[in-house]
Formats: sequence, C-alpha cells, structure tokens
Amino acid sequence: MTTIINVNGRITPARDAVVPALDHGFLYGEGVYEVVRTYHHKPFLFDRHMARLRRSAASISLVLPYDDDGFAARIRETADVFFRQPDATGDVYVRLLVTRGVGEINYNPAACPTPTVVVIVKAFTPLDDEAYSKGVRAALVPVMRNHPDSVSPLIKSNNLLNNALAAQEAYRRGAFEGIMRNYRNEISEGSISNIFVIKNRVVSTPPIDAGLLAGITRGFVLELGPLAGVEIREATLHDQDLLNADEAFLTSSTQEIVPIVQVDHHQVGDGRPGPVTRSLQATYRTRLREILG
Ligand code: PDD
Repeated sequence: MTTIINVNGRITPARDAVVPALDHGFLYGEGVYEVVRTYHHKPFLFDRHMARLRRSAASISLVLPYDDDGFAARIRETADVFFRQPDATGDVYVRLLVTRGVGEINYNPAACPTPTVVVIVKAFTPLDDEAYSKGVRAALVPVMRNHPDSVSPLIKSNNLLNNALAAQEAYRRGAFEGIMRNYRNEISEGSISNIFVIKNRVVSTPPIDAGLLAGITRGFVLELGPLAGVEIREATLHDQDLLNADEAFLTSSTQEIVPIVQVDHHQVGDGRPGPVTRSLQATYRTRLREILG
C-alpha cells in the first residue's frame, strides 16, 4: 500500500504529488502543520489539533482556507483513496500542511493570495514494542530550542531545520530523541516530542514559558493525574532534574508515552520503565477508549 497525498484537491500516490518550487512553503518554510493519527479510523483529539493549527496560522498571518469541517472533509477524501487500496487496513498517520502558497520571490504575504493545502495519509506504523517495554535513550543536545521571540516554538511550523539539527545530533549519538534546552539553559522539549520527569511520584513537565510546542499529548497527559492518582504539574527543569529523575518519558501524538531509561551515559532511575510511567500509559489507554467510545 502506498502513501496517498492530496495537493490542493489533486489526490495521487506520493510519487506523483508535487508542490510548485515557487511555493513559499518550499522557499521559506512558511507554513504550518499538524500530525494526527487515527484509532479505529477516527482521528484522535482532532478538535484540539485544529485549534492549534488555527493558532499557528494566526501567528504567521496565514488565513486558513477551510473551517474544521472543511479540513476534516479534505482528510476524509484523501483517506478514502488510501483505503481503496486492497492491502490498506488499520490506522493511518495524517499530516496536514498549509503553506503560504505560490508567489513572487519576496516575503510579502500579498505575493501569495492562495494557500496550498496538503494532506498526507500513510499507514500508521507504531514504534517497536521494545521502545515501550524497555524504554529509549535520549541525548541532551547542544542545539538550543528557538527563542520564543525567534520562530516561536508555539508555532507548529514547517520551518523545522532547528528540530532536524537536534534530531541529527541525537541520532549521531545513537539516541532515540534529542532534548533541547532553551536560551535560559532550562530543559524545553525534544525534536518531535515533549518531555516529562518523575521524582518521588511527582510528574513534572516544563511550562509553556520554557519555549516549547504545546503538545496535544502533553496537554492530554496533564489531565490524567487525578485518574492515575499522581500529581502532574508544570515546573522549570534543568539537566540535573532529568539526570536525577526516578523516571522520565516523552509524549507525542504518534508515539503516546515513551519511557526514557537513559540520557546520554546516565541511567535514569533503575534503567527500566518505572511504575508511574506504566500507570500513566495504562490510564492514557483507558481515557483513549472512553473518548473513542
Ligand atoms: N511532533 N514538540 C515538538 C517539537 C513536536 O514536533 C511534537 C509533535 C511534539 C508533540 O506534540 P503532539 O503531542 O501534539 O503530537 C512536541 C509531531 C508528531 C511530528 O512532527 O511528527
């Protein structure tokens, strides 16, 4: 089964999908995106993703061409083509991108009257079970998370070179994810995920003010505390908080909750996914089932 892509209504296999070279998304990384995955064919927390897409778009003065129902329809028609393939079953990864569109080579948004809307639908491939059962290694990388007055980390933008550089450094070190610090040397987040640490059963994640993407999964996990019987809070974190943590984990829409058992050469806790992380994973699943109905 092949990935199916919708570019402004033209739905084709990935190999035939093209965006013009004069699209400012290509020229300047001017655009915003969301990644959602489906469970039993339903996109999870779709409304929250759409709300963030709108905030991201507003931050770069990009007028979105559809309301939420319109975007849902674009996704559905792309997924329909995907599922027409005989071997396409199961859940999908959906990447929705909206760029400034095609225009003259200058930074004036007026040069691009029509945004480009791209929907990528591909088979959802979960992480290996081992990532969840044994945990992963993270690296504290020297790439600094963007200053909030630069390209704000709150904008889920297609301008991802900073994140790519952080991930590259992590991969060079054999790590699963690269953790960035902000300009105040506080922990901010990973290249594609948010981070949580646990000490004495208290779960902490850096506040938005640390300069990070307000992850949908991060927000969802922040709501799970009372259900899991643990305190979950926002708190400023430094390297030592991560290195001395009892447990730590990453969150993202595609990976849910991934235990971190090592940070560079430091073992986290006893080097295995801990009880609080496991209980939050179980609570996540329970809430997920309730929401999906
Ligand atoms: N990444 N931080 C960054 C920098 C991210 O790119 C992401 C998501 C997250 C987690 O956000 P959420 O819980 O809303 O998925 C945090 C997506 C999955 C991606 O770029 O593929």
